[in-house]
Amino acid sequence: MGAQTGTILTPNRRAFKVPPDRSTIITIDGPAGTGKSSVARELARRIGLDFLDTGAMYRAAAAIVLDEHLDPSDIEAVVARVASADLHFDWTTDPPTMLAWDRPIDHRLREADVTAIVSPIAGIGRLREHLVRKQRIIAAQHPRLVSEGRDQGSVVFPDADAKFYLDADPRVRALRRAEQLRADGRGADEAALLAEIIERDRSDSTRHDGPLICPEDAVVIDTSLLTRDQVVERLEGEVRARIEV
Ligand code: DC
Repeated sequence: MGAQTGTILTPNRRAFKVPPDRSTIITIDGPAGTGKSSVARELARRIGLDFLDTGAMYRAAAAIVLDEHLDPSDIEAVVARVASADLHFDWTTDPPTMLAWDRPIDHRLREADVTAIVSPIAGIGRLREHLVRKQRIIAAQHPRLVSEGRDQGSVVFPDADAKFYLDADPRVRALRRAEQLRADGRGADEAALLAEIIERDRSDSTRHDGPLICPEDAVVIDTSLLTRDQVVERLEGEVRARIEV
């Protein structure tokens, strides 16, 4: 079973699943480039929970601003238009598909123009309130959830069963991003990526609403020198220690 699913098991350890009758919220926060998304997705798969990518919701909002030609400084219009899109996920696909006006919007989320404006869009307080409300509704409908973002442990789910904060050296994060871009056949200037990451950290950490902060009760993991599987192993061990079976 372990070999089939790619699960690495330490000796004498069986694959761990959260019991089916147990509601469990696990939060994973941290800056871009720490491997959060892939770690969160893999952790959720291994222990049998759903996975919520809250960054996709902010990215969808940014795509709507661009595609509907909205003025990002017109907060009323931005919030009203994003609310009218009724952003939600189709959970029948793996990974779940992000929908706006019931149409898939995934293809836009990682595009350069969206990435370029998402941080300031995510700084709009009223938009955050709207999306935080949606995230809590999703958690009510999917009460077995690994939720990944910037404010999941600090603001959205302060009573989460386990909270993690992933960090990594900005140079490592720039290198990872460059490798991703090259793997997609795109060019990558590491120095420019490093500058972009430092600026994004500054902007995400200093904004007034839902800033990127490490929750006091989070387990902090520096992923700079770890593989994805090592990080997932560590998280799985921490979750297992908190959940009696
Ligand atoms: O994790 P990501 O790169 O997909 O996130 C995209 C942007 O959204 C990034 O600028 C941080 C922001 N974000 C946020 O402010 N709060 C969240 N819960 C998730 C993402």
